[in-house]
Amino acid sequence: QRQMCIRDSSYIDMIFRNSSDGGKIGAESRVKLACKRVFVSIFTSDGHPMLLDRSFSVKKMSRLNCYKMRDDMRYLTFALTKGRLAGKTMKMLESLGITCEEMKEKDSRKLIFTNEELKLKFFLAKGPDVPTYVEYGAADIGVVGRDTIIEEGRKVHEVLDLGFGKCKMCVCGRQETKELLNRHELIRVATKYPKIAKDYFYNKKHQTVELIKMNGSIELAPIVGLSEVIVDIVETGTTLNENGLVVLEEVCPLSARMIVNPVSMRMENDRIKKIVTDLRELLREEQCGHAN
Ligand code: PRP
Repeated sequence: QRQMCIRDSSYIDMIFRNSSDGGKIGAESRVKLACKRVFVSIFTSDGHPMLLDRSFSVKKMSRLNCYKMRDDMRYLTFALTKGRLAGKTMKMLESLGITCEEMKEKDSRKLIFTNEELKLKFFLAKGPDVPTYVEYGAADIGVVGRDTIIEEGRKVHEVLDLGFGKCKMCVCGRQETKELLNRHELIRVATKYPKIAKDYFYNKKHQTVELIKMNGSIELAPIVGLSEVIVDIVETGTTLNENGLVVLEEVCPLSARMIVNPVSMRMENDRIKKIVTDLRELLREEQCGHAN
């Protein structure tokens, strides 16, 4: 339940209250009304600012009030892929009023960050470890690239395409190698993604190849003669370009995905479903915004 009181003509105060005992638990927000958009500041109950003067559409605003927490709720834990994916995820969550101030402290050596108000924890991990944390329930929710989800093959639910981190898994090499692919010759394929590469060559193309597992800078392999082609991620194409390589075949499109532990999905269904639904709505609005 939400309590609202009009303080003056242009501000609305909202205080989140525990629905069971009426005690104050969550964030207090100050909403300034301005045409179709509202400017929002959210403060924790001890006056700590969580979100300052961000502008939201009235539609988005209606979502902000709903992350009501009870004291007896357990923490929901997010495992985020270190780097750009984590940054973009936090930006999206902030649009829903889900913030984590602790994470913004530059010199901190902390590994796990908490939002006490919303009973959330966040930690950063290497991409391939994210599905592992989620499968074992060490994290309820994870954000990771689709490439890693396929390659790791963990038992997790993929619930949402977050729309960022878009790139493609491709077979790449020198232009003249295309002929070897066309003739289905027995070639060597260097890759960080042996499972994806194997599935592509064996199950889709029905081509026998020799797979060589590498750990990075895969583009080197065809240049120094380790392999004829590589299976790797192409985003801008700059790395290929600068090394005289081209995309020879496209394997699959990739982007950042949200994954959920199957048990958490059942036990914390309401909270997780709300986050997923709100993110989906946000993505739809962003898409409409771009289209207009
Ligand atoms: C990835 C990928 C390519 C590069 C593609 O490497 O393996 O090398 O990015 O990006 P581009 O198309 O925009 O040039 P990453 O930077 O993750 O490092 P890695 O080589 O160690 O895998």
